[in-house]
Amino acid sequence: MATPQSEEAQIIDRRVKKILRSIELMRPIPMVITRVLRSLDEPGSSAGYISEIIGLDQALAANVLQAANSAFLGYGPSCATLKEAVMRLGYKRIRTLVLAVAASRGMDQTLSGYQMAAGDMWSHSVATAVAAQWFARAINYPEPEEAYSAGLLHDIGKMVLNKFAEEEYRWVFNSQKRQSATFWETERKAFGVDHAYIGSLMAQKWTFPMVLINSIQFHHDPVNAGQHKALAAITNIANAFTPVDPETLSRLGNRKVEDQSYEILNLNPDQVSAMNQQMVTYYKMNFGTGR
Ligand SMILES: [Fe+2]
Ligand SMILES: [Fe+2]
Repeated sequence: MATPQSEEAQIIDRRVKKILRSIELMRPIPMVITRVLRSLDEPGSSAGYISEIIGLDQALAANVLQAANSAFLGYGPSCATLKEAVMRLGYKRIRTLVLAVAASRGMDQTLSGYQMAAGDMWSHSVATAVAAQWFARAINYPEPEEAYSAGLLHDIGKMVLNKFAEEEYRWVFNSQKRQSATFWETERKAFGVDHAYIGSLMAQKWTFPMVLINSIQFHHDPVNAGQHKALAAITNIANAFTPVDPETLSRLGNRKVEDQSYEILNLNPDQVSAMNQQMVTYYKMNFGTGR
């Protein structure tokens, strides 16, 4: 016989259903994005063909051009056409970019449920992406591009949970600050699910590769990421080590590296902070920024 649920469990249950329903109702990934991803996988797709498909979506085309001309990525500002941009960036980077553009639409909005100002989510995501790629290279992880995507997308679940945090549970996040719990612990208590899990459902809905789905889901809990433990651990470390100014940091709440991340990657905290220091110095020297 099923045990009757406590009132609290029933409330959580209803909240979870409501949240999951909102993911079901989410817009599917735009057709053009799926077409670009598919064409990148087809053997023999030319840069011209791929750039034609990208050109069908103005925002995507603008993003690709911007990335190809970005001094931040170490390229000179001389790429005028999409075809040139595709050739310069290479198929791997285009794949990352296309996924990122699709998922990050809306990342620049204010997430008041998390007390994040407009732009906070975007800058935290980009900083995590850059750090994840840096650490991945430093430890010879075979796919640094993948680390970039995982870093960029790790917190997408917050865009969905924000709505619920805003409407009903703002107090939870204030009490979280007082108790210095992490956001995901507080979310589990309040919503029955956390942003990492919700993010992985969004990634599934958009048919992202398994390695990304898992590293989003387990970025606070990498030991459970199965064969994708290493990428989840890199993301977990990058999330905590992104150099951000103290004011943003306090809004973003507690971010800590899980001990399991060090174990999975066979690193110690001193090694990671040395890598972080190198990264900060590099970006300061080359771009005059700590991010
Ligand atoms: Fe997170
Ligand atoms: Fe994060």
